[in-house]
Amino acid sequence: MQLGVIGLGTMGANLARNAASHGIAVSVFNRTREKTDAFIASHGGEGKFTPSISLGEFCKSLKRTRVILLMVQAGSAVDAVCNELTEYLDDGDIIIDGGNSLYRDTERRITEMAEKGIAFIGMGVSGGEEGARKGPSMMPGGEMKAVCEVLPLLQSMAAQDGLGGACVTHIGSGGSGHFVKMVHNGIEYAVMQLIAEIYDVLRTIGGYTDQQLAETFTAWNTLPELQSFLVEITGEIFQAKDEKSGKALLEMIGDTGGQKGTGKWTVAAAMEYGVPVPSITAAVEARILSSSKTLRAEGKQFPHVIDIHDPLPRPMKLRSLSASALELGVLLAYHQGFSLIKAASDAEGWKLDLSEIARIWRGGCIVRSHALWMFQDMYTGKSSGGREAFLHRIRGERQLDLRRIVGIGVSRGLAFSGLYASLGYLDALHRDRLPQSLVLAQRDFFGAHGFPRTDKEGVFHGAW
Ligand code: 6PG
Repeated sequence: MQLGVIGLGTMGANLARNAASHGIAVSVFNRTREKTDAFIASHGGEGKFTPSISLGEFCKSLKRTRVILLMVQAGSAVDAVCNELTEYLDDGDIIIDGGNSLYRDTERRITEMAEKGIAFIGMGVSGGEEGARKGPSMMPGGEMKAVCEVLPLLQSMAAQDGLGGACVTHIGSGGSGHFVKMVHNGIEYAVMQLIAEIYDVLRTIGGYTDQQLAETFTAWNTLPELQSFLVEITGEIFQAKDEKSGKALLEMIGDTGGQKGTGKWTVAAAMEYGVPVPSITAAVEARILSSSKTLRAEGKQFPHVIDIHDPLPRPMKLRSLSASALELGVLLAYHQGFSLIKAASDAEGWKLDLSEIARIWRGGCIVRSHALWMFQDMYTGKSSGGREAFLHRIRGERQLDLRRIVGIGVSRGLAFSGLYASLGYLDALHRDRLPQSLVLAQRDFFGAHGFPRTDKEGVFHGAW
């Protein structure tokens, strides 16, 4: 097998090494030649690499049908490389965009490239640096024929799902691969925010030391309820020291969150398809708020009235309440993400298989977790087992624990946007009658916008 990789940044270089480690002959090219030289100097001995100094030479080094993996920055760079590539490619060649491109751009590129006889696949790749090197989760979307052609190659590079399968599948047509990866990232944002809030409870209210936090998250990662990549690395983060100051590294890290855009896109898509994703929205907003320096400086002057007199649970009790709250928050974040994928799939006619998406997220990707076995089962539609398990996990004491943690954080002034949004989602979905009726009445009162009635079909007006 043969593969061409364009873009030797962290992800591109590691995917090239991953492919080579599976015996695939890999042609590599980077816009700046020094990067290609440095890559070959460091990794040239790891496999069969062919470096090129021009795109023309790079394309010549590949046999037809050429398969080219683009790992360049999402946005105009993808268009620029595609345009240049078309000069050298032949009918039927395949370009895979493995960056975090916006799915609408991917759809446009599929059409543009198809006009030139080139198949374009938009592929989400998750797993960060290590995943790219050792086995990521891959979400290719586009024309079935082209995806099936590259599937054996991708299967050899992908992570394992734990049951002998590879964490890659043909997601669906059009931009669905990048859409699913975008929602994966939205869930990633939510889970990270929820973990951060739980860390805040344990540290600020429970007085947990770094060592206790490390021990807590490490222990949680052994429980099926919480086992996940993000919980695992959080346990490790608390143990890391800053070489310069000797302090905990986390203490030396600023608190102004950054983002590249996939979280915001998820929220925008959710608005477009009319799907509530409050936990994801809260996570995106928490990042925006944290980096709003002027606003935070102003807000620091606002009066802050908190109630620190209500009794607090003992540290170990706080820990078990926190575990349940985190578990529920994460389950609800997945639920929001899958609901968004389902709505987009229906609206776009993608016919996406949610169960298969849960399966390929079980390994390699950032949101991999034990809970995804349950979601996989829940979305097969073959039995009620998965759904029963899901309902079981959000009922009883666990739900009360989420309420208790939210109550404790709210009364003591912690900024709990993610946990609070997750609970609000659960409560709103549960209500038989939401107070939106009043909003509808107000709209009709001032603008004669009309309202539905509970007793008959149609649009009505009040005699306000
Ligand atoms: C992954 C990640 C990755 C993403 C980073 C940073 O699945 O490997 O989602 O694709 O780029 O996590 O994203 P933000 O900069 O938006 O936090």
